[in-house]
Amino acid sequence: MSAPASFTSREALSERRLQDPSKPAPQRKKRVIVTGGSGKLGRWMVREMVEHGWEVWNLDVAPPAASEAKVAKFMQVDLTDYGQVVAALTDVDSGYKGVDAVIHLAAIPSPSRAPNHVIFHTNIRQTYNIMEAARVLNITNLAIASSETVFGIPFYPHVPERLPITEDAQAPESSYSLAKLLGEKMGEQYTRWNPEAKIINIRLSNVMSPDQYIDFENWQDDPWIRAWNGFCYIDARDCAQAFRKAIESSLKGHHVFNIANADNTFRVPTADLMKKVFPNTKWEPETSDPREGGISIKKAREMLGFDPKYDWQTECEKLKKASK
Ligand SMILES: NC(=O)c1ccc[n+]([C@@H]2O[C@H](COP(=O)([O-])OP(=O)(O)OC[C@H]3O[C@@H](n4cnc5c(N)ncnc54)[C@H](O)[C@@H]3O)[C@@H](O)[C@H]2O)c1
Repeated sequence: MSAPASFTSREALSERRLQDPSKPAPQRKKRVIVTGGSGKLGRWMVREMVEHGWEVWNLDVAPPAASEAKVAKFMQVDLTDYGQVVAALTDVDSGYKGVDAVIHLAAIPSPSRAPNHVIFHTNIRQTYNIMEAARVLNITNLAIASSETVFGIPFYPHVPERLPITEDAQAPESSYSLAKLLGEKMGEQYTRWNPEAKIINIRLSNVMSPDQYIDFENWQDDPWIRAWNGFCYIDARDCAQAFRKAIESSLKGHHVFNIANADNTFRVPTADLMKKVFPNTKWEPETSDPREGGISIKKAREMLGFDPKYDWQTECEKLKKASK
């Protein structure tokens, strides 16, 4: 009698449970890999996808915080190693076989956290490994973290001609932002090679965790403190919403979206901040909100249905009440 063929060629061990053969096999959930899921944004990203019915695997070099450990599965992967990336996106014996989508957040997350070349090499290698492994494995649904730094941030002394700034701006000023822009260019090329694929690079603003809003009080008298990115921020939960909508959208091809919250980081109208800090920059608001931020989110609203839910003033009041 010949030995039975290994079923791991078709499914992961954990997907093969002893089942009553008279009943239909259970349908598996759509599976998404979130890289950097242990990080500041990643923990909210993992929750967002789980809450919207996805099976989520967090691939990170660092384990999640204890409070997040049960939210999703974690696998320790160094994404700078192509072998680990292609293996992790293929299958894991007791975990899964096949991946439907990838949200790539892992990176050294800002300039000056490491020497320039270390940031560039670390970040670009991870982004390349993810896109190349996805190409080889025919994973065609990707959302990749880019950054507002691609605009040429800080805006001072690089003063923009007009605000809100739109997705056509490209003026990286650091090895970090250069790697982010090249990640966008990679997305363009990989989707040209496979027009059925979707790669969305999201230029996110300065990420805020819910506990950070109390800090906003510190700069209310000094617009210069938040002038560097056009007085903007992005709530980690709203950012996660944008990535989910990118993954769930039926778009094809390559797209770049700005993501920021709808309001500025001050209590006063943006036009007043502009007069003080950017008197020679045209202020061309896109909404009727006098506190609209300096990063345009019009494209994401229109094409992804992005709809930021949080505003720092409400969140700050909640923190003040909770501390009483
Ligand atoms: N935080 C911000 O204000 C901000 C703004 C714009 C863009 N971004 C981008 O958003 C993404 C998430 O940022 P964050 O603030 O959550 O950063 P973070 O540092 O909190 O999280 C990044 C995660 O990536 C992991 N990681 C790093 N190198 C890795 C590797 N080689 N293999 C596997 N995992 C690795 C880290 O362990 C960490 O958990 C990054 O791509 C960052 O560049 C962040």
